[in-house]
Amino acid sequence: MSTIAITGAASGIGAATTARLRNEGHTVIGVDLRDTAVIADLATAEGRQSAVAGVLDACGGVLDGLVTCAGLSGYPGRPGSLLASLNYFGTIEVMEGLRPALARSTNGPSAGAISSNSTTTAPNYSMELVEALLAGDEAAACAVADTIDSLVVYAPTKLAVARWVRHSAISPEWAGAGIRLNAVAPGMIATPMIDEGNSDEFIAKQLEMFKQTIALGRAGRPEEIAALIGLLLSADGGFFCGSVLFCDGGTDALLRADDWPARWNL
Ligand SMILES: NC(=O)c1ccc[n+]([C@@H]2O[C@H](COP(=O)([O-])OP(=O)(O)OC[C@H]3O[C@@H](n4cnc5c(N)ncnc54)[C@H](O)[C@@H]3O)[C@@H](O)[C@H]2O)c1
Repeated sequence: MSTIAITGAASGIGAATTARLRNEGHTVIGVDLRDTAVIADLATAEGRQSAVAGVLDACGGVLDGLVTCAGLSGYPGRPGSLLASLNYFGTIEVMEGLRPALARSTNGPSAGAISSNSTTTAPNYSMELVEALLAGDEAAACAVADTIDSLVVYAPTKLAVARWVRHSAISPEWAGAGIRLNAVAPGMIATPMIDEGNSDEFIAKQLEMFKQTIALGRAGRPEEIAALIGLLLSADGGFFCGSVLFCDGGTDALLRADDWPARWNL
């Protein structure tokens, strides 16, 4: 059995993943703003440091799995910088801070970040913000994010997460140290995040339109994403490395059927 840390464990996808893994007999160390073993605000540098310290304390310095679910979507009045800090830096600083503990595992260590299918289905978002996030200067990235409506900051933060995963996964620090790192890109999943969006008239209309792009005709269930994360963490997922796994009821295929896989033009 494994010891796995999950951020955003108090709700939605993180809570469903926690329940699934605990049912399988694993030890889960939850990190969230509330209702978890480690309480920390991952939107701040101090909160991330305290989250890493809290998890290290709880796991005795050895971790077999890590899943970063904590995230926020855009909402009227919510600054774009909050999404930049939480969705991107709240993912990668926890990943980097806990990587040495994963490297100490002798149990097939594996980490999964939550990206989103908004990366490929939300058009024309700011690549300037993606690049600013990947450059790693939080203050500079937040300054860019605050020039953009938080409703359209979400997708660039999630593309930056996916790009960070793909670049890091194949590096000596991750694959080279025997740690598998991947990302999951869910489509619309029925969680409190979507409930929050539906509480705003404008976002509710956007979500209704987005629902029309789901070939299966329904939102996903958090348990369906938890099952995919469970596979990535398990020995059965042992050959996944640097993958971004879309699980979206067909939205990406419906909107972008011919864009991917794409020929490599050399
Ligand atoms: N629901 C969807 O449709 C959907 C689609 C694609 C990707 N995602 C991503 O999946 C992940 C989980 O989302 P969800 O739908 O389960 O949402 P959710 O709102 O149910 O859960 C998010 C969790 O993050 C925590 N959180 C928020 N701010 C935090 C902070 N500052 N510090 C620590 N924790 C904080 C919340 O307390 C909550 O428990 C997010 O990264 C989200 O962007 C969700």
